[in-house]
Amino acid sequence: MTLGYDEAGAGPALVLVHGFPFDRRMWARQLAGLSHLRRVVAVDLRGRGRSAAGLPSPRSGIDVHADDVARIIAAAGHDRADVAGQSMGGYVALALWRRHPEVVRSLVLISTRAEGDSPEARAGRDASVALVAERGTIALADGMLPKLLAPAAGAEIRAKVAEMFEQTPAETAVADLLAMRDRPDSTPVLPTISVPTLVVHGAEDAIVSRESSEGMAARIPGAGLAVVPGAGHLSPMENPDAVNAALGAFLTSQPPEPVQRG
Ligand code: MLT
Repeated sequence: MTLGYDEAGAGPALVLVHGFPFDRRMWARQLAGLSHLRRVVAVDLRGRGRSAAGLPSPRSGIDVHADDVARIIAAAGHDRADVAGQSMGGYVALALWRRHPEVVRSLVLISTRAEGDSPEARAGRDASVALVAERGTIALADGMLPKLLAPAAGAEIRAKVAEMFEQTPAETAVADLLAMRDRPDSTPVLPTISVPTLVVHGAEDAIVSRESSEGMAARIPGAGLAVVPGAGHLSPMENPDAVNAALGAFLTSQPPEPVQRG
């Protein structure tokens, strides 16, 4: 079994990896808006959506998700892909680079960070695990929603986000929370990234600071930074036109396959 996904377009692959506790649907506007440039593949990480049946929630971490993404790139018939991850999806993208660099043509790191959890953040994960185990993933929405979206986000986006909370199985959310709690510090990985990389920061992100995004970009050789106005932590949903413009410019600035030198 491999991951389920939605796709649009043709040609070289752009694989989109969602954050927590979301699924492939957070990328609906990127599927529509980038399919003239790439075969856009929005995956469901295991344990939810199209990947709920057949693939159990992982017991042991972000690396399992990264291995799944490597497998789906091969199963979809590609040697390599441009890989974009939002937040937890960014943790997965960095793990993919660490474990399977040969399948990564370029990286887009959206509203994410390289550091592991602080002791306080780890304690917060444990509290969230207890809450989800008792009341389901939706119980996290009250605390998380105000931090995820810029204050101006409309009712339609809020409803879509709440629906994804609601539909993420509790067992899957618990597995993700433990995976994020225990993920390693990826900071040492950043200087090793030798593919084109774009860091995307939502100007109103209340979870990842601008300094953190700038610091991550500065540590990755040659990486660019795009700041998305009018968006918080979920810029692909909140300001899809700006995110698509940034990704489109990034993708068209590099040839899809390596240039033969010599
Ligand atoms: C996400 O959006 O994926 C989460 O906020 C990431 C996290 O909690 O570290």
